[in-house]
This record gives sequence, C-alpha cells and structure tokens, in this order.
Amino acid sequence: MPFENLAFDVHDRVATVRVNRPDKLNALNDETIAELDQAMALVERREDVAGALITGAGTRAFVAGADIAELSRQGPTDGQARARAGQAVFSRIESCPKPVIAAVNGFALGGGCELAMACHIRIAADTAKLGQPELKLGITPGYGGTQRLVRLVGKGRALQLLLTCEVIDAAEAHRIGLVNKVVPAADLLGDAERMLRQIIAFGPLAVGLCIEAVNRGDDLPLDAGLELEASYFGLLSATADMHEGMQAFLEKRAARFTGR
Ligand code: COA
Repeated sequence: MPFENLAFDVHDRVATVRVNRPDKLNALNDETIAELDQAMALVERREDVAGALITGAGTRAFVAGADIAELSRQGPTDGQARARAGQAVFSRIESCPKPVIAAVNGFALGGGCELAMACHIRIAADTAKLGQPELKLGITPGYGGTQRLVRLVGKGRALQLLLTCEVIDAAEAHRIGLVNKVVPAADLLGDAERMLRQIIAFGPLAVGLCIEAVNRGDDLPLDAGLELEASYFGLLSATADMHEGMQAFLEKRAARFTGR
C-alpha cells in the first residue's frame, strides 16, 4: 500500500513504520494520522508481520507533535473530532496484539511523546528530547498525553511535565520511567529490532494475551485484573504453544512456537 507520509516496510517478520515528513520534523497532520491507522491495520492483519517498530525519518525528530499549522485553523467541534481521531489511532497501537516498540530518534514532543507512549515499549536515542509543550500553544494534550503520561510516570511527574512544558533529555526520561532504555543514536534501530525479535520469538498467542492483560488490567480493580489474568492463563493452557514451550524446556531444546 503506498503511503504519502509514512514509509512502511517489512523485513523478516518485523514491520518498520517510519513517519516521513522530515522537513516538518515529522509533525502529525491529519493525513499522517489516517495513514498510521492504515499501517496498524496492516501490522494487525498481515500474517508475515509479527511485530512493529515505529520511528521517525531523519536524525532530528521522532515526531515534533501534531501539525500546528492544521491545529491553528481548528474550531471547537473539529478540534474535538481531531483529538478523538488521534486517540483512536493511538489506542489501536496500544491494543495491538503484536508487540510495537517506539524507537525515539529525536524530538518526541506533544503528539510525538503521545505516540511513543501508546507503543508497548520505548527505546530512546541518547540525543532524544521528550515533552508535552501543549500549554505553550494554549491547548492541553489531545492524543492521550494527560492520561498515558500519568499512568507511566505517576501524577506528580506528569503534572510537572505537562504544566511546565519542560522538554527533557533521554537520560531524564529514562530516570522517570518515560522510556525503557537509552542507547547511542547509531545503535537505536538495531537495538530496538533486537528487542522486538526477542519478543516475537515467543508464542504470539501468549504475547498478545499478555499485552491485553496489562492493558485491560490498567483500568481494573486488582481483583478484576487478577480474574482476567487467571482466565488468560487458563485459555493459553489449551494451546499447542503451551505444550511446545513446556516440552522444549523439559527436553532442553529451543521451543518452536506456531501460534496455535
Ligand atoms: N507542527 C508543524 N510544523 C512543525 C512542527 C509542528 N509540531 N514542529 C516543527 N515544525 C516545522 C517548523 O515549522 C519548520 O517548518 P518550516 O521550515 O517550513 O518553517 C520545520 O518543522 C523545522 O522546525 P524549526 O522550528 O525550524 O526547527 P528548530 O530546530 O528551530 O526547532 C523544535 C525544533 C522541535 C524545538 C520546534 O520545531 C518546535 O518547538 N516545534 C513544535 C513543538 C510542539 O509544540 N509540539 C506540540 C504540538 S501540539
């Protein structure tokens, strides 16, 4: 499928989705948001894809935010619709049953930070800069920033970042738990791909239900989350992959998961 604002390629079961508007620091205009949705549909649907990396084109930016030129023309109704459309795409990323890793290669501001937070894991180049500077523009974050940032780093740190509009470096983002890992910029994609390949070597049913249990559990009281966990644990006990994983351990060999 041809994309205008993304590069999408698949290599040996790994899809790389690269936001590709480097002259605008990969800012997310409405078209790019719609294309991200289409790209995630491909990741979900294609049997030759087991997981995805999301990154930005060029060396300066992952994504420097929603496209401010577009935002500047919005009124209340289309502003709300734009937020809902972006939120739906980012929720699709978050609930993708295949692992999605953000390789944060530069500025991840506003919608860029929100895009990274919607991914399951974030690896940042040591040159990356992250923040939610929306208040400077007279708006709040609209693509999940006020919700996912709190869940990732806690209310106090989230409010500090949101209210001060401070842009932090990768080391600080790592210290507060906003990114999982910081690596030299030159190693970013290789490192992110290695981690993704480590995950996709496991059974896809267990990976998918693990992601779902964590996501759904986030919004549940502990008892309900534990109940959900027990049901997925039971469900996976009906799979050939569970049998294979345990047999492989007992026979001291590598497991060969088939997704059944
Ligand atoms: N929306 C639209 N265009 C953007 C953009 C955004 N979020 N971020 C950067 N751009 C564009 C700039 O307008 C400029 O385009 P131009 O060359 O046609 O004028 C180009 O990308 C390069 O950006 P520039 O600002 O010249 O680079 P810089 O190195 O001086 O500054 C940033 C880099 C990231 C600090 C700065 O671009 C910035 O603050 N961007 C907005 C960040 C933001 O507020 N994001 C949240 C949006 S909700």
